[in-house]
Amino acid sequence: MRILVLGCGYVGLVTGAVFSDIGNDVICADVDKNKVSSLNKKIMPIYEPGLEEMVRRNMEEGRLSFVTDAGSQVEWAEIIFICVGTPPRDNGETDLTQVEGAARLIGQHLSGYKIVVNKSTVPVGTGDLVRRVINETKKNGADFDVVSNPEFLREGSAIADALNPDRVVIGASSKTVAMKLLELYYTLGAPVIVTDVVSSELIKYASNSFLAMKISFINEIADICEKAGANVADVARGVGVDKRIGREFLNAGLGFGGSCFPKDVASLLHTSKGLGVEFDMLRATLAVNGERANHFVKRIADRFPDMSGRTFGVLGLAFKPDTDDMRDAKSLEIIKLIEGMGAKVKAYDPVAMPNAKKVLPGVTMCDNAYDVAEGASALIIVTEWREFRLLNMDRIKGLLKTPVVFDGRNIYDPDRIRASGFEYYSVGRA
Ligand code: UGA
Repeated sequence: MRILVLGCGYVGLVTGAVFSDIGNDVICADVDKNKVSSLNKKIMPIYEPGLEEMVRRNMEEGRLSFVTDAGSQVEWAEIIFICVGTPPRDNGETDLTQVEGAARLIGQHLSGYKIVVNKSTVPVGTGDLVRRVINETKKNGADFDVVSNPEFLREGSAIADALNPDRVVIGASSKTVAMKLLELYYTLGAPVIVTDVVSSELIKYASNSFLAMKISFINEIADICEKAGANVADVARGVGVDKRIGREFLNAGLGFGGSCFPKDVASLLHTSKGLGVEFDMLRATLAVNGERANHFVKRIADRFPDMSGRTFGVLGLAFKPDTDDMRDAKSLEIIKLIEGMGAKVKAYDPVAMPNAKKVLPGVTMCDNAYDVAEGASALIIVTEWREFRLLNMDRIKGLLKTPVVFDGRNIYDPDRIRASGFEYYSVGRA
C-alpha cells in the first residue's frame, strides 16, 4: 500500500519505519526542515533501540522516504496517518492545533478517495473534528473516511511493540473501511478489535489511565509498606500472579513521567468533566503521582538535614530506561527539590545527557557512574538503566563521601547492599 505519515515524532517515525519494513511504500512528512534533513542523512532525531537500522534498511531498499512538503504527497497516498503532536494545555485539555492543521492540509489536496487515520493520541470526538475540517477545506467532491487507530507502543521498546502489539484497535464507521486498514496489519498476526471511532479513541485513554492508576496504586501500597514494615516488591509479586490483575506496572518507585501518562490522564479527566462525569480515581492518580518526588526527597533531607553545601550524585535522568526523552522526567522534579535546598547535583545518564543539559543547566554532567559517586554525599538512583544494576559497588563505596544510596527504583537487593557496607534507602521496603 502507499502510505503517507504526517509527523515524524515518536509515533510517526516508528509507524513509518514498521509499515515500510512489512513491505509498504511509505513517505513520512514533517514541517521541521532540520529533522527531515537529518532523517534523509539517516540520522535519527530520537534514541530508540533498533529504529536507525530499520529506517536505514528501508530507505536503502527504496520503501521509505522523508519530505517536508506533505501536501504534494496526498494525491499519491492510499492511506494517510495523522501522527502529529497533541500537547497538553494548562487546564489538562489536549491542544489539537496540529491535528487540525493536518486535516486542513489533507482537505486542501484531496483529489480522490483516501482513508485518513488518526494515530495521534486524541480525545474522544477528534474523529468528527477531522472529518469536519476536511469537509470544510476540500475543493471538490472527493470522498474519504476517518478512522481511529491508536498506538500502544512504549518508548524504549517501540519497534518491538509496534511489530508485536498486544492488539490492533480500529475504530471505523463501516466494516468495509475497517477491513481495508486490517489488510495493513494482517502480517503482524495480532488480535484485532474493530469498533466505532469514539470507542476506539476511548480505548487509548482508558488503557493509559488504567496503567497510570496501577502505578499510583502500588505507590500508595508502598507508603503503607514503609509504615507497616512490609516489602512492596513481595506484595506486588503476590498480587500480580493473579491473572486478573497481572504483575506489570506494579513497580513502586518515583511514579510515572514521560510524554504520555501525565498528559493522557489529565486529558481524560478534562474530557470526563466536560461530559459531566467526576472521575475521582483519575484525580487521585495524578495527585499521588505528583507527591512521589517530594516523598522521596524528604527522606534524603531527613538523613542530611544540612543539605546546603553538599553534592549529591544522580544516576539516570531520562523519564525511563532505553530512551533519551526528558519530558516530565522525575529527575527534573527531584533535582529541582535538591537544588532548592542548597545542594549541588552531579549526574550521569547513558543517553539522555544531551537533552538533559538543556533543561538542567545547574547540574554537572559526568562521563560515568563512578565520576558521579566521587565526593558525593550520597548516590540517588532515579532511572533504572540496566548498567546501574551492574556497578562495582565496592568501587562506588570508596568514591562516595558517605556510603549512602537512595534507590528510587528499587534496583538493589537491600540485604546484599547493606551487607557490603552501604546505608540503603529504597521505596516501600522497610
Ligand atoms: C506509555 C504506554 O505504556 C504505551 O502503551 C503507550 O502507547 C504510550 O504511553 C503512549 O501513549 O504513547 P511510555 O510513556 O513510553 O508508554 O512508557 P511506560 O513504559 O508506560 O512508562 C511510563 C512511566 O511509568 C515511566 O515513567 C515509568 O518509569 C513509570 N512506571 C512504569 C512505573 O513507575 N512503574 C511501573 O511499574 C511501570
